[in-house]
Amino acid sequence: TIIYVITPTYRRPEQVAELTRLSQTLMLVPDLHWLVVEDAVSPTRRVLSFLDSCSVPHTYLLGTASRRYKGANKPRGVSNRNAGLKWVKVHAKDGVIYFADDDNTYDYRIFDEIRMTRQVSMFPVGLVTRLGVSTPIVSSGKLVGFYDGWIAGRRFPVDMAGFAVNVQFYLKRNAPLMPYSVGFEEDGFLKALRIKPEEIEPLAENCTKILVWHTRTVKTQPAVKMPDTDKVTKTNLHHLK
Ligand code: UGA
Ligand code: MN
Repeated sequence: TIIYVITPTYRRPEQVAELTRLSQTLMLVPDLHWLVVEDAVSPTRRVLSFLDSCSVPHTYLLGTASRRYKGANKPRGVSNRNAGLKWVKVHAKDGVIYFADDDNTYDYRIFDEIRMTRQVSMFPVGLVTRLGVSTPIVSSGKLVGFYDGWIAGRRFPVDMAGFAVNVQFYLKRNAPLMPYSVGFEEDGFLKALRIKPEEIEPLAENCTKILVWHTRTVKTQPAVKMPDTDKVTKTNLHHLK
């Protein structure tokens, strides 16, 4: 069973560092296809050259967010994920879909679990909200609820990194896309899959193990430009005498 990992990414100084870290986790996973989807009008050269020497089987796509969605209330990564989903619809017949943001931290062992997904699986995600974890609640092997710092009336109060979807099941449900609604992307997508909460497959030892973390990278100083646009000034050089 092949795992389609859909990773939204966008141009910023940290981008290649994030992709490097993630790719070196994915290198430990067999039977995986990495969809790197960039929110950009044209490809970032540095990303293409990174992928050139990346040993993880991959496809590069553009998934540009429309101008309408720029700014503070922009649902980040949705246009990218939807471009990835459209690719899956065209190119895949079976396998499992997983959304992996470029800045999160993944234990490679989560992928062995994800591979077993028959419809929709779920598992805990660490470092989400002040609670420190977002997780399905499991009793006698069945999902009975959710623990999350922001329930907000959602049927599925889960993080983007906390679930996986079987491709055949996804296609049978007419391949829905993710809605552009900040905070409700996961819930909207999972509702569109018409899965009942009690049908969810709990992974990670009945959701008792954290194998994924919603880490966030500190931004480099705002004044720091992208390396290729940064001017080299004399005061930054020290020549050996
Ligand atoms: C949280 C959720 O975990 C995301 O799944 C969700 O998309 C996001 O909030 C949101 O709805 O705002 P967070 O860590 O706050 O994630 O967001 P980022 O990591 O900044 O962005 C999520 C993904 O989208 C990343 O893979 C990032 O590379 C990508 N992104 C971000 C873009 O493609 N374009 C952007 O302008 C910003
Ligand atoms: Mn993030």
